[in-house]
Amino acid sequence: MANIVIIGTQWGDEGKGKIVDLLAEHADCVVRFQGGNNAGHTMVVKGEQFISHLIPSGILQGKTCVIGNGLVVDPEVLLEEIDYLNKKGIEVNPNCLKISEKAHLIMPYHKQIDMAREAAAGKNKEIGTTGRGIGPCYEDKATRCGIRFIDLLDTEVFEEKVRDVCREKNFYLTQFFSQNAVDPEAIIAAYKDYQQRLAPFVTDISVYINQGIKSGKQVLFEGAQGTHLDIDHGTYPFVTSSNTVSGNACSGAGVGPKQIDGIVGIVKAYTTRVGKGPFPTELFDEIGDRIQATGAEFGATTGRRRRCGWLDTVILRNAVRLNSLTGLVVTKLDVLDGLESLNICNSYDYLGQRIDEFPADLKVLEQCTPVYETLPGWSENISKIRDYKDLPQNTKNYLRRIEELTETKIDIVSVGPGREETIVLNNIFD
Ligand code: GDP
Ligand code: IMO
Ligand code: MG
Repeated sequence: MANIVIIGTQWGDEGKGKIVDLLAEHADCVVRFQGGNNAGHTMVVKGEQFISHLIPSGILQGKTCVIGNGLVVDPEVLLEEIDYLNKKGIEVNPNCLKISEKAHLIMPYHKQIDMAREAAAGKNKEIGTTGRGIGPCYEDKATRCGIRFIDLLDTEVFEEKVRDVCREKNFYLTQFFSQNAVDPEAIIAAYKDYQQRLAPFVTDISVYINQGIKSGKQVLFEGAQGTHLDIDHGTYPFVTSSNTVSGNACSGAGVGPKQIDGIVGIVKAYTTRVGKGPFPTELFDEIGDRIQATGAEFGATTGRRRRCGWLDTVILRNAVRLNSLTGLVVTKLDVLDGLESLNICNSYDYLGQRIDEFPADLKVLEQCTPVYETLPGWSENISKIRDYKDLPQNTKNYLRRIEELTETKIDIVSVGPGREETIVLNNIFD
């Protein structure tokens, strides 16, 4: 029996959705603990694609899914997602979906402020957020004017909070951004509908999860975004507004660190990033274009083209340390099929000096150039391979080098988007 945290090691979109869906077969409960609908997690089952933004990726395996207190939830998006799954024949009801009473609500003014800030910053200064209101909602949580599900359930408290907060937000929106004010009464009316539909799902998820663990249930914690988008440890300010590292699985779900048995980092076989911010191994040539096209690297949430580059083990080592990773899952290895040679960044060169640790100072990072070692590629199509021993020798060499440079074992290799397009090396629940 083991409770496992799944974490993105790079800048998001590593394939967490696919791997959580795969591993959920062996779990009883899947818990999201941070972020919101900035996430886009893709699962492909029997050729059919599902993208989830808020509901944990255990839903297709019929497992109980939990939206933790660490999330910021847009209720409109959540209801759309529930309707979308129900329409596809996957029943989502209060037995299989639990929402923390302490999770914060994304309000219309959060989205408006997010977009107004990005527009005002302009092309050179914007962060390239998803525009979903994530930052402004976490900001209100920290300044203690956020609105939680527990408030939504109490009409009097909810209405008072909305009217109070709107006074300040409207001053900011109209005076600072010259935008239209939001109408608190319209918000109250819309959220009353959400309240009616979502109230049965709201509960104390800390009690639920801990009771489950006590009775021998196996829990998967599903990270969103990636380690280098973490508000503390990422490429600040080009980050998201929550802690994406494994430590936050505990705070964001109301469990103590002693309950965690393993932490698995998802690594794309190359690197991608969507939005602005430093990316040392980014490619601007035809190899980058080829990886982008073969990997279909478009954002699952915003549809933006993802920037692509070589694998960077400086950031992977950073992720191993920051998350205490116990194992790795390498995804999208098939995308590298047919490339003559492959570069792996093992360190950075900073003004002639070798750097092994990821620098916090973006001015330093901008002047770092990747130091590469080059490995021969493979010409075979590996997407049909299901057994490690059948992989081409050069593919094995690439994987072994990742293990050496990160000093971490690889547990699973993914060779296609489908659930079954997977090679399992170790049972992570052991
Ligand atoms: P997440 O945010 O970490 O869950 O990742 P996304 O779903 O945003 O992006 C990963 C994309 O790669 C999705 O389109 C997946 O269907 C796809 N994918 C996942 N694993 C593999 C793989 O091993 N090979 C290929 N070709 N595609 C994969
Ligand atoms: P998943 O869970 C990739 C990026 C945005 C932007 C920055 C801040 O699918 O891996 P935000 O809207 O969070 O304030 O945007 O973070 N970002 C992601 N990039 N995958 C994600 O999630 C992301 N969620 C946010 O592009 O650069
Ligand atoms: Mg994604």
